[in-house]
Amino acid sequence: MAKQLKASPVQPPLGQLLLAQPAQAATGRAPGPATQALQDERARYLPRGVFTYHSIFPASGTGARLMDVDGNRYLDFAGGIGTMNVGHSHPAVVAAIEQQAQQYTHTCAHVATPPPYIELARRLTEITPGAFAKKTLLVNSGAEAVENAVKIARAATGRSAIIAFENSFHGRTNLALSLTGKLRPYRQNFGPFALDIHTVPYPYCYQCAQHGDAAAGDCCREWVSTLERAFLTRVAPEFACEHSGVEPDLLLMAKSLAGGLPLAAVVGRAELMDAPLPGGLGGTYGGNPVACAAALAVLDVFAREGLVERASVLGALALDRMRAWQVRFPLVGDVRGLGAMVAMELVRDRALRTPAAGEAANLLVEARERGLLLIKAGLYDNVIRLLMPLVTTDAEMAEGLDLLQEALAAVSAQPAPHAEAH
Ligand SMILES: Cc1ncc(COP(=O)(O)O)c(C=O)c1O
Repeated sequence: MAKQLKASPVQPPLGQLLLAQPAQAATGRAPGPATQALQDERARYLPRGVFTYHSIFPASGTGARLMDVDGNRYLDFAGGIGTMNVGHSHPAVVAAIEQQAQQYTHTCAHVATPPPYIELARRLTEITPGAFAKKTLLVNSGAEAVENAVKIARAATGRSAIIAFENSFHGRTNLALSLTGKLRPYRQNFGPFALDIHTVPYPYCYQCAQHGDAAAGDCCREWVSTLERAFLTRVAPEFACEHSGVEPDLLLMAKSLAGGLPLAAVVGRAELMDAPLPGGLGGTYGGNPVACAAALAVLDVFAREGLVERASVLGALALDRMRAWQVRFPLVGDVRGLGAMVAMELVRDRALRTPAAGEAANLLVEARERGLLLIKAGLYDNVIRLLMPLVTTDAEMAEGLDLLQEALAAVSAQPAPHAEAH
C-alpha cells in the first residue's frame, strides 16, 4: 500500500516528518535551578535513546496534578503514557504498597509464590471477558506480556507465524520490536528481527487513499482484502479462531494495572495458558507482591470510584471540545478516540491531510508553558492524545481543555514550523 505522504507533491519527505521533535528551543520558559541541574545530569548519565517529551522533573503528584522540582505545577494529561488511571499517589494504592512493603517486598514466585499474585490472578480471570476457565501469568511490562503471549500461542498451536499490523507499537524488546509497525525511532538500527512475522496494513481511514471518514469505515475494505490476501499468500488461517463477541483467547494488560508500579498480565484460556512446560514461563520479578498489592488496590478503586464509567464521561467531554476546535482551527484535521483516550490529528492542509508534525511538537511546548502536560503519537508524529487520569475532576478537565485551546490558538497563529533533525 503506497503511503499517502509519498503520493502528495506538496508534502515534505517522510524522513523529515518523522525527524520532527518537540521544539525545545521554542518559546521556552527558562527552567528553574533544580530543573537545570537535573537536565545537565540527565544528559550526562542517561543515554539519549531514553527520550523524554518534557524536560521537567517531578517532585510530587496528587490525582491529575504534578509539581516539579522547582515548584511549578502542571495538570498531567499524559498520565505516565496511560499508567496513571487512578491518578498520582492515590491514597488507597499508597496504603496497599506500604502495608505489603512492611510485610515483605519480594520472594520470587519461582521460590515461594506470594499470595497477592494468586489473588490478583483470580480477580483478573473474573473481570475479563469469556465464561471459560482462565489462568493468569504476571510479568513486568507490556513488552514482556507481548513476548509471553507469543510464546504461549506458539506452544499451544505448534505454529510459529504471527500476523502484526503496520502503525502498531508492541514494546522495545526484540520480539515486541519485530512486531512493531513503526520504523523510526523504534526499530531503526536494531535488526535483525525475529522471524516468521507477517505485517499487514491496519485500517487508518483518515490517511487512506480515499481519505475516508473514520466513523463510516467504508474505505476500509481495501485493508480487509489485504488481510484476506495475507491468509492466502503468507499465513494459513487454520489456527485462527473468529470471535463475534469480544472473548479473546489471550488478553494482555499492562500500563495502569498497578497504579504506576511495573506489572503486566497475560490472561487466557486455561488450556492455552498451560501449554508451555513447567519453567517455561515467569521471571525473577513477575508478580512481585508490592506490585500485586498495588494492582489489587487499583481494582478496588476502579470499582469504588466508578472509573470505567468516568472514562466515558471524560472522553465525551474532550471529544466535544475537540469537535468544536475542528470547526474553529483548520489545524485540527481529525478527532477520534475510545473511552478516555481521545486524540486529534493535526494537519497543515485539510484537503491533502498533510501531517503537521512540527505543529504537534510546538503544541506540546505551548501547552506545557501554560501548565498542561501532553504527549503525541501517530505514524506521522502529528497526533495529540489525551491520557488524563480517570480521577480528573470536572473542574480540572475544563481547566486542561481551556489550556489546550489556548495552546492550539497560539500554534495556529504561528507560521508553519520546519521539521528539524534531533
Ligand atoms: C499496545 C502496547 N503494547 C505494548 C507496549 C509496551 O509496554 P511496555 O512499555 O510496558 O513494555 C505498549 C506501551 O506503550 C503499548 O501501548
